[in-house]
Amino acid sequence: MTRRDPRGNPVSTESAAALDASEHALWRMMSFYGTPIDDLDAAIGADPGWPLPRLMKAGFLLSLTEPSLVAEATALLDAAASLVDHDNERERGHLAALQRLVTGDWAGAGAAWGEILRIHPRDALALQWAHLFDFYRGDAAGLHDHVDAVLPSWPDDDVLHPYVLALHAFGLEESGRYAEAEATGRRALAGAARVPWAIHAVAHVMEMQGRHEEGARWMGEWRRHWGAREGDGSPEGGAEPNGFAGHLGWHEALFALEGLDTATALRVFDAYLDASRIEITLQRVDAASMLWRLHLLGADVGDRWQALVAGWPLDAATAGRSVFNDTHATMALIGAGATAQARDWVALSIDGAERRPGWNRDVSRELGAPLLRGLLAFGAGRHGDATAAIAPLRDRLARIGGSHAQRDVIELTLLAAAAQGVDRGAGRALLAARTRAKPATPLSERWSRALA
Ligand SMILES: [Fe+2]
Repeated sequence: MTRRDPRGNPVSTESAAALDASEHALWRMMSFYGTPIDDLDAAIGADPGWPLPRLMKAGFLLSLTEPSLVAEATALLDAAASLVDHDNERERGHLAALQRLVTGDWAGAGAAWGEILRIHPRDALALQWAHLFDFYRGDAAGLHDHVDAVLPSWPDDDVLHPYVLALHAFGLEESGRYAEAEATGRRALAGAARVPWAIHAVAHVMEMQGRHEEGARWMGEWRRHWGAREGDGSPEGGAEPNGFAGHLGWHEALFALEGLDTATALRVFDAYLDASRIEITLQRVDAASMLWRLHLLGADVGDRWQALVAGWPLDAATAGRSVFNDTHATMALIGAGATAQARDWVALSIDGAERRPGWNRDVSRELGAPLLRGLLAFGAGRHGDATAAIAPLRDRLARIGGSHAQRDVIELTLLAAAAQGVDRGAGRALLAARTRAKPATPLSERWSRALA
C-alpha cells in the first residue's frame, strides 16, 4: 500500500519517523522558524533510501539563492536521482523541477511545480517553492494563480491551511487586490498558528496604501511571532528565532521612513539588519535597500555601508545571477564610496549574466545593464544620465524580481535625480502618479517640496 502524508500526497517511504521529521521540516520551511536542516537530516537518517528529504534539503538550500550552496544542492540532487527505484511520480516531479532550478531555469522550475500542483493540489512543498520563485522573479500573476488554483482543495482544518492563506494573501497584494489580501492575511492569523508570511502580506498592504503609522503598530503587535533572532538576547527572550525577522524588520523600518522618522528607521535597522546579524544575500539586499533610501533623504548612516560591503561576497562567482541582487550590491558599493569597485562590479554582473544560461540573462540584457549603469551615473552625480537610463525601464521593472515595495527604491532614486534639477517636471509627474496610488505621507510630501 502506498503511504501518504497527512494531506494525502503519496510518499515512497515506509518509515513513520522519516515522514514525521519531513513534515516538521515542511512546517519550518513555511513558517521560517529555525531551519529545516536538522529535521531533514533526521528524515534521511531514518530512511536513507527515500529521495524526498534530500530533495527538500536541496530545494531549501537553492531557495536561499546563495551561490555558495549550489554545490551541496547539486550533490543532494545527484544522490536523490540515484534512488530512482524508490520514488514515485510526485517525487520524480520534484527532482525534475529542482534539476531545472539548479541550472538557473527558475521559470522552468516554476512550470514544473505547477504541473505537480495540477495533480496534487495539496503538495505544500510544490506550492511553497512555486510561490517563492514567483516572488524572486517578480511574477505577480504566478504569485496569485498558483495558490488560487489549489486553495479550494485545502480544508480549513488542515494544519498548513493558515500558511496557504498567507501565500494567497501575498499573491493578492502583489496583484493590487489590497482589501482581499488584508482580509486573507488576517484570516491566516486568526487561529493559533504563527504565520510570519501572513504578517508580512498585511504589512505589504499597509505599505502600498501609505498606512505607515498603522503599519508600525502592526509590526509591534505581532513582534512576538516574527521578531526573535538567532543567537542573541532579543527582546522577545526565549521566543523561537525566525529566519524572516530581517525582512520583517526592513518592513518596520520602511514604515518609520514613510513618516520621515529616520532615527527609528536606523534603530530598527540596527536591531534586524546590522552587519553582524546578516548571513545571506536575501538579508543584504534589504540592508542595502534601507541604507539607500536613507541616503536619498540625506541621512547620515555612519559606517553601516562599509560594514555591509565588508561582509558581502562580491566576485565573479556571485555576480550576474540575479539583477535584483546585483542592483542592491551596486547601491551598497556606491554608498560605501567604493566607486571603482562599483564600476568593476557592474561590468562583472553584466558579463556574468551573459555567461550563464537561464532566466537572468534576458532580464540583464533588457533591464539589468541599463539599470546598473544608471545607478553608476547617479552615484557619480550625473543625474540626467541616470534618469535617461532608468526612467524608460519603469513599466517592466517587475521582471527583475522582488515585491512592489522593494522595487520602489528605483522609483525613489528617480525622484531624487529629478530633485537635483534634471527635470523637476518629470519628477512631479512621477510623484503625482505615486500619490494617486498611495495617499500622501510625510515622505511623499518631502519629495513634493524637493521637486517644487
Ligand atoms: Fe516584503
